[in-house]
Amino acid sequence: MPTSRSTDRPDPPASFSAGWSAVARFLHWAIAVLILAQFVVGWMAVAWRLSPTKLDLFVWHKSTGMLVLALVVVRLAWRATHHPPPWPSNMPHWERIAAGLTHGLLYAAMIAIPLTGWVVSSAAGVPFSIYWRIPLPSIAPTDRHLAEVVADVHGALGIALIVLLVIHVAAALRHHYVKRDDVLVRMLPWSTTSR
Ligand code: HEM
Ligand code: HEM
Repeated sequence: MPTSRSTDRPDPPASFSAGWSAVARFLHWAIAVLILAQFVVGWMAVAWRLSPTKLDLFVWHKSTGMLVLALVVVRLAWRATHHPPPWPSNMPHWERIAAGLTHGLLYAAMIAIPLTGWVVSSAAGVPFSIYWRIPLPSIAPTDRHLAEVVADVHGALGIALIVLLVIHVAAALRHHYVKRDDVLVRMLPWSTTSR
């Protein structure tokens, strides 16, 4: 019989509450909504004909992408200093491994996608200010070839994130409708299973 000791989720301390805290749930859903908007605005910006609207779409896309990066850094700091809720006791070992792997890859994508976007923006050599206000420092030399190659990587990572999200959402729905445990419910914004 597998126990929670077999993964990165050790037995919680006595002060522990059963679900995700309000902070964890806020960060999960705020980042999720912003990322979905990022796909819509990113594709629109690329497809739009050259015009002031296209430039505005790119300002919104790059700015919100940097906001996502900042929120993900906060989320990782929160995660490193707090215990996640334990897995359901009947969750098999392979599912714990699969969930841990998928979550790790989701975090990696949430960092790598904004960073590659930042490199594309820098290599393009056009000065850029977040939400028309805060100048974004350059993290790469001006280089058109670099910008084109990393733009392809940025787009490919976006597709990889979509694949991960399909798996992630299917797993969440399976927990709720097939396994009938509380894994989805305890992550919902209105959940009352935690602080
Ligand atoms: C989680 C955050 C982000 C997501 C999900 C995302 C997603 C996308 C997607 C789906 C596209 C369209 C790709 C294509 O059609 O080839 C795109 C394009 C682009 N994104 Fe992002 N992006 C994010 C963050 C950023 C950031 C932070 C920046 C810059 C500071 C950025 C800069 C760009 C640029 C310059 C393009 C156009 C690339 C090209 O010319 O093909 N993105 N992004
Ligand atoms: C862009 C969208 C999303 C991203 C990037 C994302 C990312 C993540 C990550 C990284 C975790 C792991 C949390 C941790 O262990 O620190 C997580 C947990 C979770 N997500 Fe998402 N998620 C997204 C959307 C969704 C959606 C739409 C659902 C529901 C249908 C969902 C349901 C859950 C649930 C139930 C958990 C908790 C799993 C557990 O208790 O171990 N997520 N999510």
